Amino acid sequence: MDPVKNPYCPGAGTPPPELAGRDALRESVRVAIARLRVGNPSKSVLMVGLRGVGKTVLLDQMRNDAEAIGVHTIRVEAPEGRSLPALLAPQLRVALLRLSHVEKAKDLAQRALRGLAGFAKALKLKFSDIEVGLDLDPEPGLADNGDLEMDLAALLDAAGRAAKGGDTALVIFIDELQYVEEAELAALISALHRCTQQRLPVCVVGAGLPQLRGRAGNAKSYAERLFDYPEIGPLSESAARQALVKPAEHLAVSYAPDAVDRIVSETRGYPYFLQEWGKWAWDAATESPIDEKDVEAASAQAVAALDESFFRVRFDRMTPMEKRYLRAMAELGPGPHRSGDIAATLTRTVTAIAPLRNGLIGKGMIWSPNHGDTAFTVPLFDEFMKRIMPGDDWLVA
Ligand SMILES: Nc1ncnc2c1ncn2[C@@H]1O[C@H](COP(=O)(O)OP(=O)(O)O)[C@@H](O)[C@H]1O
Ligand SMILES: [Mg+2]
Repeated sequence: MDPVKNPYCPGAGTPPPELAGRDALRESVRVAIARLRVGNPSKSVLMVGLRGVGKTVLLDQMRNDAEAIGVHTIRVEAPEGRSLPALLAPQLRVALLRLSHVEKAKDLAQRALRGLAGFAKALKLKFSDIEVGLDLDPEPGLADNGDLEMDLAALLDAAGRAAKGGDTALVIFIDELQYVEEAELAALISALHRCTQQRLPVCVVGAGLPQLRGRAGNAKSYAERLFDYPEIGPLSESAARQALVKPAEHLAVSYAPDAVDRIVSETRGYPYFLQEWGKWAWDAATESPIDEKDVEAASAQAVAALDESFFRVRFDRMTPMEKRYLRAMAELGPGPHRSGDIAATLTRTVTAIAPLRNGLIGKGMIWSPNHGDTAFTVPLFDEFMKRIMPGDDWLVA
């Protein structure tokens, strides 16, 4: 099939040709935001799931949905090593400047901009990465104590009042939220709590790896009441079919039924893998329908492509010892695994490898579904580890 027309698009955060299987969640978040906007309470949302399940594209879609009903949004991605205040400040500024052009919100938005000025000045010492343009002078006493938890609460309160004044809501979209430091996460949760108590139209729609839920609970015990935690997983069988078939259908290309079955089973319904398989199957086929032998040719290429990109980027960030730890996990199968079993595979004690495990959790490679359990955050990573470190040399390293 013409590669120029190939509709599939594997890639982190790349919007798919068909966002399959997420309508119900999209709708529930749309309703939650619309409720907030008319002054009704609703919960913030933290979407949790493994790498490649489609959290980022869903987050962006939800943001578009919110903007479409006139809600003000900001969008940040928490990379490792940058502070939350530094990420939020410039985005908040843009949102507040926009709100300051709404006649009814103008004065309150300007007050919030003063709050932002005080916030940035007072926290600059602690968070030297804060860089934000200041439009107005600070108002003494507004968000300028130098204590993140107090100041962020005051700032979001002021921003929420401006949004309310403009008959709108402010929704903060945050991706990769698991990377935010616990104290900063605590401050964010506490600020949201205050907005909820004041019935201000502010909420967070966040996304992150599965450890996020535990991190939020550790940061503030009442996080459980403030958030919904929808789990984003592989697509159901029918949604996975749709993700493959619909984009082709739009281009008058069909699939033989066994070809679709084969892709759904090889990818286990994981969105990233569906895009990769769809892409290679399309290129392998010479005519419609795409059949099973096209898929067979595609499988080898899809696996190779994943190994070189999706899996590889994570692998390359690991130290040699971390690679051994992950390889030992893979030896035990897909997981989750008991820490004791992993330690035994490496002929070490649980205590000796605990720092290694913590480091891997920090890097977002593994997580702990239950106390003492360890699982990969990347689907099918065990199979990749066996491909990239075959044999048993790793045991004696
Ligand atoms: N619902 C979906 N249907 C089809 N493809 C999807 C869907 N969600 C995501 N994808 C595709 O999966 C890949 C990974 O999406 P991404 O949002 O980056 O995942 P995550 O943020 O969970 O790691 C992208 O190529 C995207 O186009
Ligand atoms: Mg993502």
